[in-house]
Amino acid sequence: MDVRIVEDPARVVADLLVDVACAGGHVALAGGSTPRRAYELVAEVDADLSAATLWLGDERVVPRDDERSNARMAREALCERVPEDRRPRLMEVETGLGAEAAAAAYESKLREELGNHPRLDLVLLGLGPDSHTASLFPGKPALAETRRLVAAVPEAGMEPQVPRVTMTFPLLNTAREVVFLVAGADKAEAVRRAFGDPPDDAAPAAHVRPGAGTLMLVLDHAAGKGLQP
Ligand code: 6PG
Repeated sequence: MDVRIVEDPARVVADLLVDVACAGGHVALAGGSTPRRAYELVAEVDADLSAATLWLGDERVVPRDDERSNARMAREALCERVPEDRRPRLMEVETGLGAEAAAAAYESKLREELGNHPRLDLVLLGLGPDSHTASLFPGKPALAETRRLVAAVPEAGMEPQVPRVTMTFPLLNTAREVVFLVAGADKAEAVRRAFGDPPDDAAPAAHVRPGAGTLMLVLDHAAGKGLQP
């Protein structure tokens, strides 16, 4: 586990995203509020990202132009700020289908694009104060998923209280590179639970450990306090 506690985690993550995107990689984006600035910094680099494919690690089952939509955030913070001919593809979740059907459709898209054993090149994840990641919330059935790559989450464990679609551990843990971007003092305890030694088994993020891939934590100093004795 490569731990980076830095002044500007968004910058570090933006550089990682640009590298993988310029190489034509398949990248899963984190939702929520923390990654927005990293996405804006990616757009500012003005690189040719047209060979890249952006997926969503999870999505809220709301219309694509709803302010709670992770796809909307990714479009506004990144895709729409890049000239069309240099823009990456963004694979949106068909939320209009409802959580179950949208999850199944997204999994089919992944298999169409990446074959029957999809491996993402980079997965960017956030962390909730309850140690959830993507939409894998403590105590919810999606945690136990061992077969499906994308699952429906009828009941979220946190605001926004709308159904979700989430990538599952079987998919996340086959990625070539997993990067957690975490900022703020309110996340320090979650960092300790998910990445401390030993990690807390009840923390969903403690179960994101890519077998044949790398794991990096990019934290600001406030969140990094969770790993200090
Ligand atoms: C979501 C996210 C979720 C997020 C954490 C942290 O759709 O809500 O994917 O897992 O990463 O909740 O969210 P913040 O960055 O807003 O604190």
